[in-house]
Amino acid sequence: MKGTYILAIESSCDETAAAVVKDGREVLSNVISSQIALHTLYGGVVPEIASRKHVEKITPVVTEALKIAKMTIDEIDAVAVTYGPGLVGPLLVGVSAAKAIAYAAKKPLIGVHHIEGHVSANYISHPELEPPFMCLIVSGGHTHMVEVADYGEYRILGRTHDDAAGEAFDKVARAIGLGYPGGPKIDKLAKEGNPHAISFPRAHIDGSPYDFSFSGVKSAVLNYLNIEKMKTEHATGITSIAPQNGTEGCPDVFSDGITKADLAASFQEAVVDVLATRTVAAAKQLGTTKVALAGGVASNSALRRKMAEVCEENGIRLYYPEPILCTDNAAMIGSAAYYEYIKGRTADLSLNAVPSLKLGER
Ligand code: KG4
Ligand code: ZN
Repeated sequence: MKGTYILAIESSCDETAAAVVKDGREVLSNVISSQIALHTLYGGVVPEIASRKHVEKITPVVTEALKIAKMTIDEIDAVAVTYGPGLVGPLLVGVSAAKAIAYAAKKPLIGVHHIEGHVSANYISHPELEPPFMCLIVSGGHTHMVEVADYGEYRILGRTHDDAAGEAFDKVARAIGLGYPGGPKIDKLAKEGNPHAISFPRAHIDGSPYDFSFSGVKSAVLNYLNIEKMKTEHATGITSIAPQNGTEGCPDVFSDGITKADLAASFQEAVVDVLATRTVAAAKQLGTTKVALAGGVASNSALRRKMAEVCEENGIRLYYPEPILCTDNAAMIGSAAYYEYIKGRTADLSLNAVPSLKLGER
């Protein structure tokens, strides 16, 4: 059995996941236990509930990952785990489990940065991809434009100043009554709408050409909804005391004839437009011809389409992981861990959860 086999664990948010990955590129198993249905009840992730669910699921998920890979723990070369950034309780469950397994089985332990995992998902989907390349990381918690200089070597070129792209999708989805998680729901609804129906703002940050801000576009959507609500109240004489961000009360067609699908499509267009144009501008400035997408929002169909278009116009090759590897999973952690392992970067049993771990920090 030649090769390096890594058992990886991911529990930074609301998925309990374990995977076995060979040589950083080949996925032997990728088990994900999602808590989405549970958190949908509350409109977002509840950290305490997430932690308890991780405790319940971690052992069966790890056992299943080894079983699907047809491997015993003795045949594994190292145990990897996400140790930040993320929610402290959920992270601690994964870190504690990984330390216990590594200690009991006498295997090296590797701490992985969650965002490095997202970037590395591209190594699985594209076995030919090697650094250097540019990567746009767009998830529920992060929006970073990064130069991947080498495996595990990053230079941050831009980041969001407020909401992450996925967070903006989730908040807007909630405001128009689509529920959690909003990204895939907006993506679907937007297919029936006109992306040019409403011109939402594209924020520029003075002096930081590759930074982002999504709170303006989110507020513009909320303002639009509030104005609509006032118009309806004025016309009917009925004042609603229901909060605007509730899951009811958003009409399918507004008073100006614009549909909810038009609103979703126009919001998505504003977000995708800045993500795509700034990423390509950064790639051109760096002179790189390879751009990758990573994170949950990388599975957005409009972003993929727009990126494909602007990359082609500029002679850039575009990479993105298959959807199951875009959102949180442990295979991506196993891939990132492999490149740490071959550089000899292992952790000891003092490894702890670091909720606000910065990219490039060890
Ligand atoms: O990477 P991820 O699973 O978790 C974090 O590390 O944050 O990303 C989850 C985020 C959520 O905000 C979700 O709404 C968004 O990714 N997302 C999407 C799509 N699929 C997931 N956003 C837009 N379009 C999608 N198709
Ligand atoms: Zn993530």
